[in-house]
Parts: sequence; C-alpha cells; structure tokens
Amino acid sequence: MIQTGQPEDVSQHGMWRNRWIFILAATGSAVGLGNIWRFPYITGENGGGAFIVVYLASVLLLGIPIMISEVMLGRAGRHSPVLTMRRLAKRAGAHPVWVFIGWNGMIAGCLILSYYEVIAGWTLNYAYNHLAALFSSTAESAPPTLAAAQGQWEAFLADPWRLILCQTLFVVITVAAIARGVNKGLEVVIIWSMPTLFILLLGLVAYSVSIGDMAATIDYIFRFNWDALSIGGVLAAVGQAFFTLSIGMGAMMTYGAYLPANTSIPGAVAVIALLDTLVAVLAGLVIFPIVFLNGLAPVSGPGLLFVTLSHAFNSMAAGAIVGMLFFALVAIAALTSLISLTEPVLSWLVEKYNAKRWRVAISIGVICWLLGLGTVFSFNEWQHWHPIGTFTFFELLDYLTANILLPLGGFFIVIFAGWVLPEEVVQRQLALGTNALLCWRIATRLIAPIGVLLIFSYTLYRGFAG
Ligand code: TRP
Repeated sequence: MIQTGQPEDVSQHGMWRNRWIFILAATGSAVGLGNIWRFPYITGENGGGAFIVVYLASVLLLGIPIMISEVMLGRAGRHSPVLTMRRLAKRAGAHPVWVFIGWNGMIAGCLILSYYEVIAGWTLNYAYNHLAALFSSTAESAPPTLAAAQGQWEAFLADPWRLILCQTLFVVITVAAIARGVNKGLEVVIIWSMPTLFILLLGLVAYSVSIGDMAATIDYIFRFNWDALSIGGVLAAVGQAFFTLSIGMGAMMTYGAYLPANTSIPGAVAVIALLDTLVAVLAGLVIFPIVFLNGLAPVSGPGLLFVTLSHAFNSMAAGAIVGMLFFALVAIAALTSLISLTEPVLSWLVEKYNAKRWRVAISIGVICWLLGLGTVFSFNEWQHWHPIGTFTFFELLDYLTANILLPLGGFFIVIFAGWVLPEEVVQRQLALGTNALLCWRIATRLIAPIGVLLIFSYTLYRGFAG
C-alpha cells in the first residue's frame, strides 16, 4: 500500500515540481469565467454588498473545508478521482459505492467542459473584435451606441457557425495544452499564464481605477442592500462559491494527487481561496468603474461583459487595446480552468486503459465538442426548445452542474473526509494540533455537511416547485 511520506508516494501521471506550482495550478483552476464573467453580474442581480457577504461566508464555512477535504483525499489516493475513491474506501473498510464521487465528478466535469468551452470561445471573438477595431479608422465609423453593441451581441449569438468556430479554437488549445502531460503540458501553461494573468489584471485595475468612476463603484459594491437579497440570491451565492473554487467534481482531488507529500494542505488552500476571491474583487474593480464612467447600468446579466463593458471600451480612447487585453485576460483565465476540468476524466482513462495521454485528450476534446454543440444551438436554432421547465439546453447544464452535481459531490466528499476516512490517514495528511483537529471535526462533520444539505434540499424543493 502506498503511504504518504514514503519514496514511492507519487502519481503515475507526474508530480507538481513544488508547492508553488500546485498553488498556481489550483488558483488557475479556481480563477476563470466564474470570477470575471459570472461573479460581477450575479452580484449585480442580487443586491451588491449583501450578496458578497453571503458569498464570503459560503467560501469560509463550506468552500474551504470541502477544498481541504478534496485535496487531502487526492493526495492520500494519488490517482484519478475514481481510483482514489476506490482505494480510500477499501483502506477505510467502507463500501465501494463511494467511487460514485469519482463518477459524479467525471460526469459533471464533461458537462461543464462542454459549455465552458463555448463561452470561453466568446472571449476570443471579443478579443478579436477589439483588435480589429484597433486597425479600423475610427473617423469613418459612426459613434458607437449601446444599441449597436446589443445588436452585435445578438447577431453573434444568432450565428452558430461563428460560435462553433470560436468553440473549436478553444477545444484545440485546451487539448494541445493538456496532451503533453502534467510537467510538459499543464505546468508549462500555468507558469506562463498565471503571471501574465496577474500582470494584465493589475494593469487593467490601475487603468480603470485611475480613469473610471470610483465613487459610483464603491457605492455599488458596498451598498448593503439586504432587501434585494432573496432566498434565491442566497442559493446563488452558495452555488457561486462551489463553482468559483472548482470544488465538488474532483478537479482539486486530481490536482491534490500530484501534490508533494510535505506541503501543508490547509495553508495552500487558504492561499488559493484568498487569491480566487481577490481576483473576483479586482475583476469588479476593472469592470464597474468603466461601466459607470460611461453612464451605463450594470444590470444586463450575462451580457454585462459582452455588451455593456465591450460598449464602454468602444467609447473610450485606447478602448480598443484595453478591450483586447481584457478579453485576452478572460481567455487565459478560462484556459487554466479548462485544463483542470479535463484532468480528472483524462487521468482516469489513462489509468483504466493504459492509453496514451494525447489520444485520450483528443477523444475527450471531440466528445465535449459534440456535447458543446447543444450549448451553441441553445442561443440560436434551439433557443425555443426547453428540455425541462423554462430552461434551454445550456441553462439546464448550468443548473444541473452548479446547483446539483457540484453540491452533491462536495457533500459526499466532506462526509467521507470527516466521517469515513480513518483518523490516522487524516493526521498523516494534515498533521493537525489538538485545536485544529477540533475545528476540522466541527467543520467537516457538522457545519459543511449540514450547510450543503440545507441549501441543496432547498434547491431541489424550489426546482421542483417551480
Ligand atoms: N472555477 C472555475 C471558474 O470560476 C471553473 C471551474 C474550473 C470549475 N474547474 C472546475 C468549476 C471544477 C467546478 C468544478 O470559472
């Protein structure tokens, strides 16, 4: 049996070179469309500051214990989530049905991958649009209007071929990034992407804060409008915490499987959660000052980035170049998330069939591309098709993954870590002192499971009630 701390305690897929690479990789997974595209607009929809408070509480009370559990299980098992859970269940003398955590994660992963690649493709299109604007002479074109930006967005979504082109580009980039393995593929992408991402983000914050409308931004973010926060908003805050931290589907478990034995997991997780939250806030500081400066309202839902912000860039001096950099930033953030979504399934197929990594990467790419066509068509050909209730195909996938599969996965992960995994395994992984152990038990045995269960039951109730 492989045990942490012993020389053979490594993963067959490769190991992160050091703990900083792991922290960057996991931060890359966490930071994505969830922070830059989803967080600002759902914060806007749910009352600003009040929503942020609930979101932060979910990160602290539910997100962090679950992430620590997930990374810990990964490092204790050193395999893909399915095999890790099989081994750990066996070691704990528990029923093999716990591998279901791995299966649930792989299914959620493929579903998220399929639509995430489509939306990531939009950022390429918009980076390209701003780049093109840079080279077209502004004197000739009529002054841009918000209605024109809205029209351009609608025309873009109505064109399946263009969406497919962007989606395909992103699938190809992701497959190429992941095919070469943990050290030659993932690490290389991460070492280049993450510093670029931080530099771009800080540069954009400086630009936006210096020219934008800060007073309106501060007022907007820190306005504690508790009345605007409904129960639905509370659910959205919890769902956002799961989605943005990449927990509940085995992505963090797989990254944990490559983590060197001597790294402190709680310390690393604290840094990751902090950086993830920081990026969400900084993204808000890029977006809102510019939006307010141009007298726009940040209430346009998913179109916030692609209509409102893009229009704001169009109306500003140097807006073309800044807009291009901004959408390039979002594309980079999406790429490092996509590779973490692919790794759990990929590592499982490699283990199961002893297959070549690049072949598996291409197969997953093709399958998720096909599935992604459903999301593409949700915005045009199939926009009036509602497989369930009022959901389009895309909205169904989004709801099913973020609100059902991820919380379900997170719930069982934290139950397994808190109640089933033998204490000596936990201690070997986390080496907790008496007080920390007590906190660990309270968090993983009570707070996180009960919290997720309450939220989850309410989601189901609401889902079925209407
Ligand atoms: N966290 C990423 C974001 O905020 C998305 C993501 C990557 C993810 N890997 C995941 C979400 C695993 C859930 C599970 O955009």
